[in-house]
Amino acid sequence: MLKFTESQSLKNYNTFGFNVVAKLFIEINTKSELQELLKSKEWAENKHLILGGGSNILLTKNFEGLVVLNRISGIEILEEAHNSVLLKVGAGENWHQFVLHTLKENYGGLENLSLIPGTVGAAPMQNIGAYGVEIKDSFHSLEAINLKNGKIEIFKNEECQFGYRESVFKHDVKGQYIICSVSFLLDKPSFHRINLDYGVIKNVLTDKNIDNPSIQDVSNAVIEIRQSKLPDPAKIGNSGSFFKNPIIDAPHFEKLKKSFPNMPFYELEEGMIKLAAGWLIENAGWKGHQENGVGVHPKQALVLVNYGNGNGKDIINLAKNIQDSIQSKFGVELNPEVNFL
Ligand code: EPU
Repeated sequence: MLKFTESQSLKNYNTFGFNVVAKLFIEINTKSELQELLKSKEWAENKHLILGGGSNILLTKNFEGLVVLNRISGIEILEEAHNSVLLKVGAGENWHQFVLHTLKENYGGLENLSLIPGTVGAAPMQNIGAYGVEIKDSFHSLEAINLKNGKIEIFKNEECQFGYRESVFKHDVKGQYIICSVSFLLDKPSFHRINLDYGVIKNVLTDKNIDNPSIQDVSNAVIEIRQSKLPDPAKIGNSGSFFKNPIIDAPHFEKLKKSFPNMPFYELEEGMIKLAAGWLIENAGWKGHQENGVGVHPKQALVLVNYGNGNGKDIINLAKNIQDSIQSKFGVELNPEVNFL
């Protein structure tokens, strides 16, 4: 039996903690419940919003439709080889709890992605990434329900068209599928591939005199770095990086570099350069800024926060002012990583 709730507050279902109301709400725990939901009159008669961990969404107004909380659970081994294991994970599993599970089993590949808020099913939507690793690096495939016909379809890695915080689910097939499970190909012990490309991890490990880090050491370092810079959404409402790091062309970069020689940058292929949005926002004077109960985090300027009495519109206003200021100071366009509703 499907159990719908009317006039449900979404305060506990979005990491900004904004108190908007959904006209109708349902939590789904299995694939078959989801298939049943697609045949219901509540589904047919309403527009829909699918929520995972609510960690990448900005809710600006009440939702006059049906909110579906994806809580499909379960972790199973699909295949095992001498060097690798293929794990299938329910889309509603908490991402970090799943990473902790892989560490307990000593499966390598996701350690750099420790402590990212959200659910497993939301992770491929925007190809989550941190500290030199993206989910696409160990992603095998996913199962999703086609909302038009209720059929389960498989998307392999290349079919997801992963890019920097991008996938086909934000573009060509946006709103057409609900992800049910995700499969990861992970490395067994002695086949671990430790990735220390992101300099800060190396620094933390060196400070602890760890020369030959295990995946657990890397995870601990990542957790330490994240906790030192990023606000815990359970304490201060936020959705991680609010903007994507902007990508500009080489001639534009050469000009900027003359005026701002200390500006951090990463060279990408085809002569494009990625800038650090956090650095731009800090250098335009926004770090620690507060207005109307919202603000720019004092330790990481890329994170916008809700101090408790702001709302989604206050965040939009602040974001707009930051975008204008970055445009006029650096001639650079900042685009949100977060989805607006
Ligand atoms: N920086 C500043 N001031 C700030 C913030 C950053 O000068 O207020 C500088 C840092 O000193 C550093 C550079 O900017 O030189 C990059 O900073 P950081 O290593 O903190 O990473 P980021 O580029 O700001 C990205 C991701 C994060 C991810 C980290 C680590 C995006 C939009 N954000 O942030 O992802 O954890 O790298 O890999 O790509 C998220 O997506 O929600 C998220 C937190």
